[in-house]
Amino acid sequence: MDPIDCQKAPQVYDVLDDLGGWLTYFKSLGVDTVPKSVTQKQAVSSHETLEDIHQDLGECTRCGLCHGRRHIVFGEGNPKAELMFVGEGPGEEEDKTGRPFVGRAGQLLTKIIEAMKFDRKDVYIANVVKCRPPHNRVPDEKESATCKPFLLRQITTVKPKVIVSLGSVATHYLLETDQKISQLRGKFLDWQGIKIMPTYHPAFLLRNPPMKKVVWEDMQQVMKFFGK
Ligand code: URA
Repeated sequence: MDPIDCQKAPQVYDVLDDLGGWLTYFKSLGVDTVPKSVTQKQAVSSHETLEDIHQDLGECTRCGLCHGRRHIVFGEGNPKAELMFVGEGPGEEEDKTGRPFVGRAGQLLTKIIEAMKFDRKDVYIANVVKCRPPHNRVPDEKESATCKPFLLRQITTVKPKVIVSLGSVATHYLLETDQKISQLRGKFLDWQGIKIMPTYHPAFLLRNPPMKKVVWEDMQQVMKFFGK
């Protein structure tokens, strides 16, 4: 075997880190061998419950975000929700309370959900990472990759019909693209047989209120899908 090129070593370690997360995920589903061709795009079915996943997450110390967090924000809502929202990561209020989207952006999200004729308790809400990044920075690749298996397991367990991905971080993370959110938003895309509707993040709407109109157009498509 050729020696590892020192210049490329950091990337090699990133890949190995990511692989570790995936193997843990498959193991938790009872898979002990992984065919070479398995990718995230292939449907995975699961019989585990959200409690199983929560328990497995435990008092997570898998990445550096554990050092600054007060509470892990696992996610909440109807375990059989047909509609799921995925955000970026907990902010200050979420970190204090352990609940997703309860700060200012969360209050706006709750209003959007209610305007869509859903009740907040009927949908499921989660984030790309479950611990608050310091100063609300964007989670880095390693943090997102470490947390990803848990979100994927939550999605697989809840089996929503539609996921609304809030903002570019959640959208890029789920769809594995770096296309701009302005180009992705407003169209249903497929993710393992689940429809994803990318739209702007409510925190962005707080800074750019005129964009609420655009998000409302996206949400109307979701409402139409559900016959609302
Ligand atoms: N922003 C997010 O992306 N998620 C939260 O839970 C709160 C704010």
